[in-house]
Amino acid sequence: MAVKHVGVALLGLGVVGGGTYRILKSKREMIRQNDNVDIEVVAVLDRNEARIKELGIDGGIVAKDIDEIVNNPDIQIVAEFFGGVEPARTFLLKALYAGKSIVTANKEMFSKCWQELEKAAEQGGGGLYFEASCVGGVPVIRTLTDSMQANTITSLKGIVNGTTNYILSRMSDEGVDYDTCLKEAQRLGYAEANPSADVDGFDAMYKNSILSSLAYRRRIPIENISREGIADVNVKDIAYGKELGYTLKLLAISKLKDGKLEARVHPAFLPNSHPLSSVKGSFNALFISGDNVDDVMLYGRGAGALPTGSAIVSDIVFCAGKDTHRRFPFENEQVQTDIEKDFSSVYYVRFDVKEEDGTLGKVAGVLNKNKVGVKTVLQKSADTLIIITNEVKESVMRKALCEAEQLSGVERVAALIRVEE
Ligand code: HSE
Repeated sequence: MAVKHVGVALLGLGVVGGGTYRILKSKREMIRQNDNVDIEVVAVLDRNEARIKELGIDGGIVAKDIDEIVNNPDIQIVAEFFGGVEPARTFLLKALYAGKSIVTANKEMFSKCWQELEKAAEQGGGGLYFEASCVGGVPVIRTLTDSMQANTITSLKGIVNGTTNYILSRMSDEGVDYDTCLKEAQRLGYAEANPSADVDGFDAMYKNSILSSLAYRRRIPIENISREGIADVNVKDIAYGKELGYTLKLLAISKLKDGKLEARVHPAFLPNSHPLSSVKGSFNALFISGDNVDDVMLYGRGAGALPTGSAIVSDIVFCAGKDTHRRFPFENEQVQTDIEKDFSSVYYVRFDVKEEDGTLGKVAGVLNKNKVGVKTVLQKSADTLIIITNEVKESVMRKALCEAEQLSGVERVAALIRVEE
């Protein structure tokens, strides 16, 4: 069979763009032999001359603008590495309308613009490939689209942000403070340009939107995902959680319960025995539960030039082998997402209390009155009371805590952390 020649353009040669260029160069012959496609980088778009030189790119393939790429008939696939919504969105829409396929790692742009990209792809006939947008080098997208067809997915739980997992792991295992961990994550190239995207949970929310939309075959817009980050996590709670047998993680969660979906991103305690608890540092993992397959966990590097470049190159090869492309029709309709905002959870609550007799009894009374069951009580010191509840609706929990804060012996609710069991 004749080798298929495919021309690729790379938009942006930063960390992941540069990693992708290097992989495409070093593996070109291997891919040609194994997959029968010859992938050639025909154009790059980046103004950074030093970077172009550093990567050893021939100046003759540096495009002056996106139109030169869009109008080049030798380019079939456009891979984008800019990050952020613009100009990535505009450039990729142009490429799709011109009939090219796109490959992207850009979770923010993809989660926000999926519908219009889908429309442009349908019109132009190209495909959308976004394996690298979620969980770096770990093949989570293709697992959900191509290996789970026999299942109704019932839940996803994931550590999908390397920066926050790196920070929480080091705070927990080595007692390093939050600011030092964040600076180190930036230095190692895990963090987004604006680290708020990581620590405030935006990045995990974008990824949750993409993964959950694929898992449940309906659109889960980011507006329907409740989000909390790790900026307020107190090292004391990580330590108290440890004593209770829990590990703190920033989780992206979605669940299908009685036909209703819940989707959220927040710090959560997991029992130490849960496989996600052992995922450390910049590693990520996605724990998928389906009605037939039961539990599947995918684990690997969630960030970094080469792991993410690996996912990009796999998409390029996968796309190159296709004459027709997968469509995501749920994106083309106004699908009603039946989202449950008032979800149920087990809670860890830390109260700052006054040194008064009878406070524990009064707190227990308020919880009992609100039908919040108590599983564990830990009186850490005269002024610190920790309670683990039974599963309860978020609205009920918050109402009970408002009432508890009115008690004379209670200073404040100092921490409220969900527990995923
Ligand atoms: N900032 C992201 C992370 C990069 O830390 O996971 C990979 O998407």
